Amino acid sequence: MSTKRSHLRFRLTSNHRLTYLTPSLFLLTIFSLFLFLSLKPHHSPPKPHPTPTTTSTSPTTLPSLPRFAYFITGSTGDGSRLNRLLRAVYHRRNYYLLHLDLEASDAERGDLVKSVGGLENVMVVGKANLVTSKGPTMIACLLHAVAILLKRGKDWNWFINLSAQDYPLMPQDDILHIFSYLPRDLNFLEHTTNIGWKEFQRARPIIIDPGLYHSKKSGVFWAKEKRSMPASFKLFMGSAWVVLTRPFLEFCVWGWDNLPRTLLMYYTNFLSSPEGYFHTVICNHKDYQNTTVNHDMHFIKWDNPPKQFPVNLTIQHFSEMLESGAPFAHSFSKDDPVLDKIDTELLGRRSDQSNIIFEKIDAIRPTQSSKRLEKLVSDLLSTQNFRPKQCK
Ligand SMILES: *[C@@H]1O[C@H](CO)[C@@H](O)[C@H](O)[C@H]1NC(C)=O
Ligand SMILES: *[C@@H]1O[C@H](CO)[C@@H](O)[C@H](O)[C@H]1NC(C)=O
Ligand SMILES: *[C@@H]1O[C@H](CO)[C@@H](O)[C@H](O)[C@H]1NC(C)=O
Repeated sequence: MSTKRSHLRFRLTSNHRLTYLTPSLFLLTIFSLFLFLSLKPHHSPPKPHPTPTTTSTSPTTLPSLPRFAYFITGSTGDGSRLNRLLRAVYHRRNYYLLHLDLEASDAERGDLVKSVGGLENVMVVGKANLVTSKGPTMIACLLHAVAILLKRGKDWNWFINLSAQDYPLMPQDDILHIFSYLPRDLNFLEHTTNIGWKEFQRARPIIIDPGLYHSKKSGVFWAKEKRSMPASFKLFMGSAWVVLTRPFLEFCVWGWDNLPRTLLMYYTNFLSSPEGYFHTVICNHKDYQNTTVNHDMHFIKWDNPPKQFPVNLTIQHFSEMLESGAPFAHSFSKDDPVLDKIDTELLGRRSDQSNIIFEKIDAIRPTQSSKRLEKLVSDLLSTQNFRPKQCK
């Protein structure tokens, strides 16, 4: 691991030890800027770090560390990849919910449960969902996961959606560290209202997902009729990968305003609903549109012109991945050698290392990788990017 010890400061107290990078001026500026420019107070103020019993002598007050709720999904044959991915993104602070869809056998699901057994903050969906590729059952499955995580995990801040083909590009410590400086109501999702060809490929066709009423997986089918563009709300589309806040997801799941529910019904007949549902909900509600950051926190590479699936990332893309500053990348083939390189050079783990090293729940030791994420976040929140790219 490329930790530069000279960049670290230590604070030692009797029962609790924190190690962290000196927060750069830039992030501190953003942080204080947001204290003034704050979005809307529909979230509770950040809690302070748990106070050690002996009062700290440290003059600095650090922003409190957040918690993430991860949802990691796969299908038949993905059990070992989910297990590897879980270990690569594991931290005791976070919650993890794993889902192997109904195509995977109960035996495979059982193996997954065994392999992650004993980790108290990891859950596996026992009653799996049938998920149709490009069908609304994808969103149903995601909202199911959110509901479980809202019920079982009391105090997380952001929900992060990963698939078996994803992998992190930095340790959790770095992501927790950088996110600790962010206002807790920022939602990261790549989106645009300029949908172009998608109007005819996505917005006008009407599809039906047999996964809603059959128990065997099949494809979606198309109705003969086309529908007109919506008039009572504006359509937004973008990347299916999202990092969303707890308050926004409570709004979606509880639906005290009817918008998330009516849009959910609208999206029942929409091809590839994960590329638009949250984007459309968030940008059509005044309480949330100002919380959007137009980025999906993933490095994804497309061919030119783009094919149906993104490029499989290999060692050849390693430096490009790093330059992006993104905390995650997609898509990797199973056990591609680049994953070993990421394990050893970025995550500080050995690829044959299946055991998770248990860290203290409040201990984070950011590496140099946090600088990459810091730069990305600073760019995204700069005056020329942040407001001008919201819901446009
Ligand atoms: C979440 O991840 C799954 C892959 O597991 C992906 O299919 C889906 O599009 C993602 N996004 C949403 C909003 O469901
Ligand atoms: C959102 O931002 C716009 C432009 O900055 C501002 O006019 C509007 O009042 C904000 N809305 C809320 C709910 O804060
Ligand atoms: C990526 O690799 C998988 C096998 O792991 C293969 O099925 C798929 O076609 C590849 N995708 C591309 C875009 O090359």
